[in-house]
Amino acid sequence: MKALLTCVLMLISAGSIAIADTIAVIGTGQVGSALGPEFAAQGHDIVYGSRNPDSQKVKDLIAKTPGNAAAKLPKDAATGADIVVLAVPGLMVEEIVRGLGDLSGKIIIDPTNPLTGDWSTEIGHGVSTSNGRIIQDAAPDAFVVKAFSTLNWRQMIEPGGDISIPLVGDSAEAKEKVAEIVSAMDLHPIDVGDIDNARWVEGMTVLLLNNRIAGRPHFELHLRVVNE
Ligand SMILES: NC(=O)c1ccc[n+]([C@@H]2O[C@H](COP(=O)([O-])OP(=O)(O)OC[C@H]3O[C@@H](n4cnc5c(N)ncnc54)[C@H](OP(=O)(O)O)[C@@H]3O)[C@@H](O)[C@H]2O)c1
Repeated sequence: MKALLTCVLMLISAGSIAIADTIAVIGTGQVGSALGPEFAAQGHDIVYGSRNPDSQKVKDLIAKTPGNAAAKLPKDAATGADIVVLAVPGLMVEEIVRGLGDLSGKIIIDPTNPLTGDWSTEIGHGVSTSNGRIIQDAAPDAFVVKAFSTLNWRQMIEPGGDISIPLVGDSAEAKEKVAEIVSAMDLHPIDVGDIDNARWVEGMTVLLLNNRIAGRPHFELHLRVVNE
């Protein structure tokens, strides 16, 4: 028994074993339905936080999620989680985060964009700071990491090539943890600073979506790191 424990500890310290976390995925729309199964495939335990956890839509999502996924009301899902993913409407994040209870010590993954405007003509960025900053202020003792906000939900499931995922957040350890999750999805994490840089990351989404709306090239982000 002692030998087995020693072996496991050695493997963990060598980085060979990813520790499974309980991840609450709040919201069961396009992004929640893409990320939940992807995170579960990495061995994490998924609890969906839905306003209607007993709905057929959520049951179907649980059925396509590897492992023993479950669904609860958002606050109940967040309570038992190590990591909380906010796959929710971008202009509602403050209200939704405040409804999740005490998030102290948890990592919050923020894929949201506070988009305004008309999707047939032009969209805009609808807050004076950023959703990353708003979420961090609403949960000051949590570790917010903005990630996935620049990526279409389809490429969350199948990247189809090299795609960068900019990460912003004030905690280096939280960013490192999220970077591991991102890398395991065959995406390329890149640290682009603290949470106040969320405004510029969200701006990249506005840029790429407006390019698409205007009929200019539809692109994904692929940032080449230069070692100088
Ligand atoms: N779609 C994309 O490709 C994409 C890509 C990158 C980032 N994002 C961002 O990710 C976030 C989620 O996008 P999404 O496309 O997944 O949105 P969505 O399909 O509309 O899903 C949002 C989910 O949020 C939950 N929710 C909680 N409170 C809500 C409320 N008051 N009204 C409506 N829904 C509520 C709902 O789940 P329940 O019904 O289970 O409560 C809903 O299914 C947005 O901020 C978006 O900007 C989207």
